[in-house]
Amino acid sequence: MKKWMMLGLVALATGHAVAAGNTIKVGVLAEMSGTFADFGMQITNGAKAYMKQYGDTVAGKKIELVIKDTTGPAPDVAKRLAQELVVQDKVDFIVGFGLTPNAFAVAPIATEAKKPTIIMNAATSAITTKSPYIARVSFTLAQVTEPMAQWAYKSGLRKIYTVVADYGPGHDAEQTFKKAFARLGGEVVGELRVPLKNPEFGPFVQRAKDSKPEAVFVFVPAGEMAVGFMKAYYERGLAKAGIKLLSTGDVTDDGVIEALGDNALGVISTHQYSAAHPSAENKAFLAAYNQINPKQRPNFMAVGGYDGMAAVYEVVRQLNGNINGDKAMQVLRGMKLNSPRGPIQIDAETRDIVQNVYVREVKKVDGRLYNVEFETFAAVRDPGK
Ligand code: DHB
Repeated sequence: MKKWMMLGLVALATGHAVAAGNTIKVGVLAEMSGTFADFGMQITNGAKAYMKQYGDTVAGKKIELVIKDTTGPAPDVAKRLAQELVVQDKVDFIVGFGLTPNAFAVAPIATEAKKPTIIMNAATSAITTKSPYIARVSFTLAQVTEPMAQWAYKSGLRKIYTVVADYGPGHDAEQTFKKAFARLGGEVVGELRVPLKNPEFGPFVQRAKDSKPEAVFVFVPAGEMAVGFMKAYYERGLAKAGIKLLSTGDVTDDGVIEALGDNALGVISTHQYSAAHPSAENKAFLAAYNQINPKQRPNFMAVGGYDGMAAVYEVVRQLNGNINGDKAMQVLRGMKLNSPRGPIQIDAETRDIVQNVYVREVKKVDGRLYNVEFETFAAVRDPGK
């Protein structure tokens, strides 16, 4: 009989859980239902793709995902589920978080329980300042917006109207754009915030049109809001009026780009990931994701899920399977990974991500819509810190 089997039997005889010592539990808090269900699907499938590619055993321990549905932007639900993950499921890590409010709600629990917590999407700058046990592998809105303001000015644009979702990441995008564009000599001629829940984009977009800017800069969360905004932009004739559309990559996200249709052609955006990114790492990621879900193209949230698991695996490897919150954070601080988006690093001080930000244009590649990268801002830090 193998040694581990004997140990298991001993544990059984003494009434202890057999598997506990041999398993690393990764609690995933994600939006698995409701309007934002695609966020959870992308994040969890990205995590599963990593496990498919690299196997589910690290340092002799089996990696197990414990997935809980936050149902949408629901801080109270997220908080209760995080407590469950810590107290009942006894997870070693907490990961996930499509939406900012859920990440903010869980920060005090991460601190209290000393649980290494990895943000796979939520992108408000302040999140990583709310607990020393939080590290981020996704991005921040400020990080991708500042390059957009610089690119816009360089392209000769001087009068821009901003439209953002009215919550953390939208406020960051609005403020960052305004500051960076003004510093260069550009002017934000008007700004609008649209509600996160059930927005009616038509009147907002009309107001932007009426103030006759050269371009509109927009951030709304990926998915239905992005589709709603784009529809209104065309229906209200902004494109016809020659008003250019600039956005963060959330709006032309790979998950919905085909639903946007040819109207999206020519839209310029800045972001950290495009499914069209030319690299061996991305090719391997796309192949692994296709094995998990052949029906949908992975987006930046899927890459966040994938890289978050890469970070978990590296911590487990370096700690030889004995997870301790403080030691885990030490490993995460300064960690470098070869992501499908390019090289990334978790800043040792802020625990936030440093990465390339790409300027992209929506184009057809082999008959399908993609964000084609054409300029790179290298190793960008979160300017919000
Ligand atoms: C959030 C950020 C995003 O970029 C996005 O597309 C959706 C949600 C967030 O932080 O809530």
